[in-house]
Amino acid sequence: MADTTSETDAAVVPQPVSAPLSRAAIFLIVTIKKGEDDAEAVRSFCADFSGLVRAVEFRDLEAGLCCVFGIGSDAWDRLFGERRPAELHPFREFRAGARHAVATPGDLLFHIRAKRMDLCFEMAAQIMAKLGEAVVAEDEVHGFRYFDDRDLLGFVDGTENPRGQAVIDAALIGDEDPAFAGGSYVITQKYVHDLAGWNALPTEQQERIIGRMKLSDIELDDAVKPSFAHNALTSIEENGEELQIVRDNMPFGKVGDGEYGTYFIGYCRTPRVTEQMIENMFVGKPPGNYDRLLDFSRAATGTLFFVPSATFLDAVGQGAPAPEAAAARSTPAEAPAKAAPSDGSLGIGSLKGEKGHE
Ligand code: HEM
Repeated sequence: MADTTSETDAAVVPQPVSAPLSRAAIFLIVTIKKGEDDAEAVRSFCADFSGLVRAVEFRDLEAGLCCVFGIGSDAWDRLFGERRPAELHPFREFRAGARHAVATPGDLLFHIRAKRMDLCFEMAAQIMAKLGEAVVAEDEVHGFRYFDDRDLLGFVDGTENPRGQAVIDAALIGDEDPAFAGGSYVITQKYVHDLAGWNALPTEQQERIIGRMKLSDIELDDAVKPSFAHNALTSIEENGEELQIVRDNMPFGKVGDGEYGTYFIGYCRTPRVTEQMIENMFVGKPPGNYDRLLDFSRAATGTLFFVPSATFLDAVGQGAPAPEAAAARSTPAEAPAKAAPSDGSLGIGSLKGEKGHE
């Protein structure tokens, strides 16, 4: 088999999509105003971005601040023209019965993570100060880690995330789109729960809906796990291999308003895997065999972004936003983009390593 790790791949530095689960996060989504000067302001922000993160990160290096910057399909065309990531498109809606995976506006995503919320807040504030009048905020969610990584439904969330090298394999583009190697696709959905309805269910019924035990987080045996269990519908295979995404869901809420939610965020080297999971949840597999979580959860937002490599962003504004130019001007790799097999498969393995907590 040919060596698929080209020199270009090894030189590209990805954004920190594989950062460990954090204690705090802010999900900030903005749209760019209509003017050409607004687009220009965002282009010049791209090159300043890594310096801005470094400045806030340095206020407390132990806090592990990181920020992933994603760009939506329409915004990509406005900012960078014709050369675009192969699978970048707007969020795909799914509708079945009362269930609706809505698409909502969003040109830029900032996924900010740290051990301390004050650093996340400072990062978000600095981003908005830099982008100034060029953007309008569409959605901002402040998420927090809840006890032992539980969602507000009371279940541990994140257990079956890929770990170690499998994170890179699942999330980062390789040779399937060489000009954008080291990039990733990210899908977000803000879910709001009917917590009273959920809490009225017996625990055994909740466990059948999730597919795991509530207290111990042990997976239900196949003999008792329903085919509509959440972890059954979101397990996707291709040619006998499990296709994975990298999730970093966060609880959020406002008790005074009765708002209890889960912010879903999933990174993958192709949006197709996450879209298949959403289709299985909303439409059902087979159709009608849908995810009962959705009887108690409404998707209030839905967005899809491309996450270019850090190398690409640094090169914008040096008069060379073209991906090849970005790759050529690369810095030493922290986590080089791993090449995918060129056999037409997605080449995403099912290895499960260790979960890191910060
Ligand atoms: C209401 C929002 C959601 C909640 C509360 C939720 C919660 C959970 C929980 C508790 C688990 C089991 C523990 C784990 O392995 O992480 C899980 C697993 C999983 N979820 Fe979700 N989830 C939500 C939405 C989604 C969405 C929208 C997707 C994909 C588009 C998704 C994909 C997955 C995957 C891939 C797994 C692991 C399946 C496995 O291999 O066992 N989840 N989720």
